Amino acid sequence: MATPLSGYRGRIQTLYSAAQLAERVAALGAEITRDYTGKSLVLLCVLKGSFVFAADLARAIELPLRVEFLGVASYGDDSESSGVVQITQDLTRPVEGEDVLVVEDIVDTGLTLSYLLEVLGARGPASLKVCALLHKPARERKHVRIDYLGFTIEDRFVVGYGLDWAQRYRNLPEIGVVTDGEEG
Ligand code: IMP
Repeated sequence: MATPLSGYRGRIQTLYSAAQLAERVAALGAEITRDYTGKSLVLLCVLKGSFVFAADLARAIELPLRVEFLGVASYGDDSESSGVVQITQDLTRPVEGEDVLVVEDIVDTGLTLSYLLEVLGARGPASLKVCALLHKPARERKHVRIDYLGFTIEDRFVVGYGLDWAQRYRNLPEIGVVTDGEEG
């Protein structure tokens, strides 16, 4: 049946369906719940790409927690890392003494995350860990430890579930690869 999204979605080859994502996120949430019981957890959602993942992950964690957002721009409207990371929106409250879990959509070159960990580490959190939905090890330029990982993927540009291509496709419920060369 044709839906308003069907033309848009027609260009996408699914890599992980909404059901597969939900299953993996539930498992990550259970693991984080176990590890952070009794701690002062702050989920730090890195904008924009992590907003969907962070929203689902937060609901999969059965603990009291605080959510913070950090706006970061590492690319223009391009699919290649510029290597330059800019903080476009800072935290609303300090994280000193708290257990910060950085929630990232994807670790590609690792440049964004390594920069963020340096900046956040200087703010005195009790602990600082990373939860990433996707990792593309083939493109790594800076190694960063990922404490909780959804999936390891090949070197392909993926969209959906918060991830964009020139700001498009963030609202797709699944993760996929754009199959033609044109943006829609
Ligand atoms: P890194 O600094 O190269 O690790 O890039 C991290 C950021 O680049 C991610 O948080 C995404 O916003 C973006 N990015 C990297 N790979 C992809 C992709 O395949 N699709 C969409 N965005 C990506």
